[in-house]
Amino acid sequence: MKQYQGSKVLAALFMAAVPLVLAGCFHSSSSDSTTKVTGSVAFMDGWMDGLPQVTWGPEVTVTAFAPAQRSWQWMVSADHAGAEFVNGGTGCVNCHSDAGFAPSPAELGAALVGADEDPIPGKRGFVDITVQAAYDAEKFYLRAAWQTKRPGVTHDIWTYQGGDWVRNSHEKPEELGTDEVYSREDRIGVMFAPVSNVIPAADGHPNNFNNVGCWVTCHSDMHDMPDMDEAGYTLGDEITKYLKISRVGGGGANDAVDDTAVAAYMNAGTFPDMWHFRGGRGAAVQTLTDGYVMSTRSSDSGAHPYATNSPAPGNYMYDIDVMGFHALPGDEWADNMDNAPPLIVGVNAVEFDHTVVFNEGDILPRRRLTVPVEPRDSRNDVTAYSSWKDGVWTVIMVRDRDTGHAQDHVLNPAAGNYTFAFSIFEDHSGGRWHHVTFPVTLGATGSGAIIQAAAN
Ligand code: HEC
Repeated sequence: MKQYQGSKVLAALFMAAVPLVLAGCFHSSSSDSTTKVTGSVAFMDGWMDGLPQVTWGPEVTVTAFAPAQRSWQWMVSADHAGAEFVNGGTGCVNCHSDAGFAPSPAELGAALVGADEDPIPGKRGFVDITVQAAYDAEKFYLRAAWQTKRPGVTHDIWTYQGGDWVRNSHEKPEELGTDEVYSREDRIGVMFAPVSNVIPAADGHPNNFNNVGCWVTCHSDMHDMPDMDEAGYTLGDEITKYLKISRVGGGGANDAVDDTAVAAYMNAGTFPDMWHFRGGRGAAVQTLTDGYVMSTRSSDSGAHPYATNSPAPGNYMYDIDVMGFHALPGDEWADNMDNAPPLIVGVNAVEFDHTVVFNEGDILPRRRLTVPVEPRDSRNDVTAYSSWKDGVWTVIMVRDRDTGHAQDHVLNPAAGNYTFAFSIFEDHSGGRWHHVTFPVTLGATGSGAIIQAAAN
């Protein structure tokens, strides 16, 4: 199978081979995608305030699976049965679907969750995301809902131990020491681009974002990936997602093309727009990180609504008149499913006062938030309404259809279809330990797209 020869040939090739494969390797676990919930978080009320009422398009379930460390390079390597076809321009879901020849997303997750070289104990193989969309003359609306055992709405914390403030910033699968706790926010990531803006897997490569989604951004030399190559890396501290078209001759992370070439791609819209909803670093002030992927995973221009906070002068603690405490008493961490209330400057925070007497186990957030200034800059121009109730996260993302910013794609389903891809971070995980979906199309009613946005 040197070349892609059409789906009939594909069917013949794989129909024979795959039943054996399925019997041997892939078991989907029945309890995988459901959760039992026993707690609640007191302070999330109001995060949905101001939610616009719209009529949504039909619900679509998109399954995010644990990808282990299977990068683009793995996809086109001899280890992947679909490699020749991926290299020839075939999309992942041509083979991988419930009706396809190759394992479905849920089956992939079940097989891969333990295949990571550093797996997270108890991590589920896949997460079903319910997605809906809508638009009106001005705005585009995206709704995503998924189950989790708990919401992560605190990113990291300080704890008062033995008379000192100790930083507690731990994520799975890191092992915890004495008095350490995990404190990582939950997230949903969304990448999208108009189908007509073809983003090739590399210069001249026949495959692209429409077919392979996130895998145009995921490489084996990235941070925590099998061939991590951060020595001499100049584009940041860690190698994050990038597009091969931003590398000379399709090279690796350290072969960046010059700024002129990058600007040309940006002007042509040859990049995935990326929204990154963060339970701890945005949800409480109803925003998310609006970014994009090109040479790196970047944020749009503008200020972050969060900053690092320390138990030191010039920083913040809770306002006792608003909260009833200067720092969260340690036992309330567990009461809130391992979360602390957000510390919001101008709302419930006052300047840190070192003369206050703190108690053993007291907690202060290591991030402080500010309410984004209106009109919002490009970094914050997606409004995010969120809630977590009875084990279900619901996040509604609302943005102007046309922001006028070069780092955003216009979102007008009436004019054409889009490719979307999603990721979920849960249970104190970060980095590569997310769940990811294959690409899925989004368009207007009657467009033939999988997610159909209702016109309002
Ligand atoms: C031509 C059909 C085909 C295409 C296209 C294809 N795959 Fe596969 N893929 C397969 C088959 C068949 C297997 C099962 C192989 C096995 O069990 O050894 C597989 C296995 C996998 C695995 C499982 C690896 C493991 O170790 O268990 C992953 C992950 C995967 N594919 C991801 C993708 C992604 C992502 C894409 C798109 C970039 C893709 N595949 C495109 C046919 C395909």
